[in-house]
Amino acid sequence: MRNLCLLGLAISLASPSVWAQTPTAPLPPKDVFVADLMKQMTEAEKIGQLRLISIATDMPRELIRKEIAAGHIGGTFNSVTRDENRPMQDAAMRSRLKIPMFFAYDVIHGHRTIFPISLGLAASWDMDAIAQSGRVSAQEASADGIDMTFAPMVDIARDPRWGRTSEGFGEDTYLVSRIADVMVKAYQGLSPALPGNIMASVKHFALYGAVEGGRDYNIVDMSPTRMFQDYLPPYHAAIKAGAGGVMVALNSINGVPATSNMWLMQDLLRKDWGFKGVAISDHGAIIELIKHGVAKDNREAAKLAIKAGIDMSMNDKAYGEELPGLLKSGEVPQSDLDNAVREVLGAKYDMGLFADPYLRIGKAEDDPADTNAENRLHRQEARDVARKSLVLLKNNNQTLPLKKQTRIALVGPLANSKVDMLGSWSGAGVPAQSVTVYEGLQKAMGQQGSVTYARGANISDDPKIAEYLNHINTGGIDVNNDPRPAQTMIDEAVKAAQHADVVVAVVGESRGMSHESSSRTSLDIPDSQRALISALKATGKPLVLVLMNGRPLSIEQEQAHADAVLETWFSGTEGGNAIADVLFGDYNPSGKLPITFPRSVGQIPSYYSHLSIGRPFTPGKPGNYTSQYFDAENSPLYPFGYGLSYTDFSLSPFTLSSKTLKPGGTLTASVTVKNTGKRDGETVVQLYLRDVTASMARPVKELKNFEKVMLKAGEQKVVRFTLSEDDLKFYNAQLKYAAEPGEFDVQIGLDSQNVQQNSFELL
Ligand code: BGC
Repeated sequence: MRNLCLLGLAISLASPSVWAQTPTAPLPPKDVFVADLMKQMTEAEKIGQLRLISIATDMPRELIRKEIAAGHIGGTFNSVTRDENRPMQDAAMRSRLKIPMFFAYDVIHGHRTIFPISLGLAASWDMDAIAQSGRVSAQEASADGIDMTFAPMVDIARDPRWGRTSEGFGEDTYLVSRIADVMVKAYQGLSPALPGNIMASVKHFALYGAVEGGRDYNIVDMSPTRMFQDYLPPYHAAIKAGAGGVMVALNSINGVPATSNMWLMQDLLRKDWGFKGVAISDHGAIIELIKHGVAKDNREAAKLAIKAGIDMSMNDKAYGEELPGLLKSGEVPQSDLDNAVREVLGAKYDMGLFADPYLRIGKAEDDPADTNAENRLHRQEARDVARKSLVLLKNNNQTLPLKKQTRIALVGPLANSKVDMLGSWSGAGVPAQSVTVYEGLQKAMGQQGSVTYARGANISDDPKIAEYLNHINTGGIDVNNDPRPAQTMIDEAVKAAQHADVVVAVVGESRGMSHESSSRTSLDIPDSQRALISALKATGKPLVLVLMNGRPLSIEQEQAHADAVLETWFSGTEGGNAIADVLFGDYNPSGKLPITFPRSVGQIPSYYSHLSIGRPFTPGKPGNYTSQYFDAENSPLYPFGYGLSYTDFSLSPFTLSSKTLKPGGTLTASVTVKNTGKRDGETVVQLYLRDVTASMARPVKELKNFEKVMLKAGEQKVVRFTLSEDDLKFYNAQLKYAAEPGEFDVQIGLDSQNVQQNSFELL
């Protein structure tokens, strides 16, 4: 192991070999090289470059190779080994112009080694840890002959009914933008042309996280100010960080599908943001323009998409079949085709593939004998990142950490489920290599205590749900229901509890429940598991809930039953060990929620940074004629930024270096954070801003900075945040990005709710 400082990020890598490589052999500059190549290409070869196909289709591999050799395919995705990709690259080398293929894959939260799901990574609020996960992913994917990942996914999610909430980094614009930047730089390293690095293709452009009702693939209808202020900045951050690709969203935006949206793709992405990379459609999205009702047939769909600037079509035939006719009739000018081809070839150039088509595939004799070999995994990194992603939500009477000499009753359908540890989008991860909570506890305890396992309940007793979950994860049986009657399983768990000192219940969602196309109308833990939790509570034994889920859950009743609650998301290959580290106090939890946990689904949307309103509800005051729900408490169950530790932290009153800020100047907010408890630990000091009076209503608070601080027991540290006019800027009603003079509140806290406040004036 050694530490490297990459683009300001301290990253430790298991194998430094990737860094020893030299850059690829010099070629003419990209524009010269690509222009020259394009002069030699036929129209059919050009159209072929725009075709990106999944090799997981019905098309036999032999036919795929034939098509490649004929120059009819530009890239593929869904192959994950060098020896799968080599014959395809060989076929490309047999094509007339020998234009290399590129190979893409959804490397979302790890490759062979699976890290916590993206929402869990965000919960670490630890940019080095997040970079570490991205670096290892790039290194492992590159070593498997993969050139591009369809990541990072930076869709802001404020409606947790949406199953893909799990794939993103949460609700907050600032936090997600920071992570977008870190992830792109981690995947691409110093250059995506170097082996060990892969190209990032940020998705889903744009606003996919705002699908109406949280129902997947639904429409997005949004005001321009909200778009620019809240939802677009993370994509922009990824592009500013140099993302070589953009994947275009499946949804429409104010009635115009992203895939045919000239404003989105041309005016915003290309002109305003200056994006110079390749724009890729999502799966089958071009022909879906017909279902959206904006194209009458494939021909019109292809025309709309190419005109909008969709360079590559993912897995549909519209470009291949329709562009020749459209070009012939003049409906699509040659320049539209050439623009798309230029970007595809440019991306291949940027991935280093013209310099060496086998850059990541390597030589057959160097192929790993076993792609899933243990020594190809980065377990230590995965464990380290996973434990940083865990969020302690409740810990009454210091129930946690547990002593290793304890007798534990471990229950719940997720306590020993290898596949669920991995979460969704973990295609190259091997369930057999993941560590469950059961295994993690056993290993940590050794002979010191005992752990008795009882399943206690199925994920859900509804056979239709099990059937659905098994259907969407086509790789195999995800939900394997125990055929015993529910009460028999509960009785067994209760018996185990009665003979134990403490009950650890691992409950929540199976991974398929937080997945593409897995929207839910409820955020509850399924009834079968709720009944189990009630029965365990009735035993009177201390009850620890270990939650596994890919979205906020409404667990008001369950958390009231529990003495301690640990949110673990889907924590990856080393999840069980990481969870054991926290449960036994070998690691002091430091995660903070990257998304609000509502009390019930009825509170959605329940994000913290909502706009000020005329009749706000004030906690503790009568609610009449204020904005509230009269039938329930109005606060969230757990606010954004919240998370406990085994130690305690205090914040001093904070100071501002000045009560005024001149345009172009800076001011500093300083606060002393102290570890007042008995253990070393980390916390996240968070700074929020409020523009008190402006030309339009502004958020009640917005995260503008944070710092994760490690403090030994008793230690204190001064944290300083510098504020400038840039931090105060917003998009006004005319979409002008500017700060407006006047009063600003600064709030500092260890979560978004419990803050102290000062103010200053922008002159
Ligand atoms: C998803 C994308 C993904 C693509 C390729 C689509 O269904 O929406 O996020 O990258 O498939 O696997």
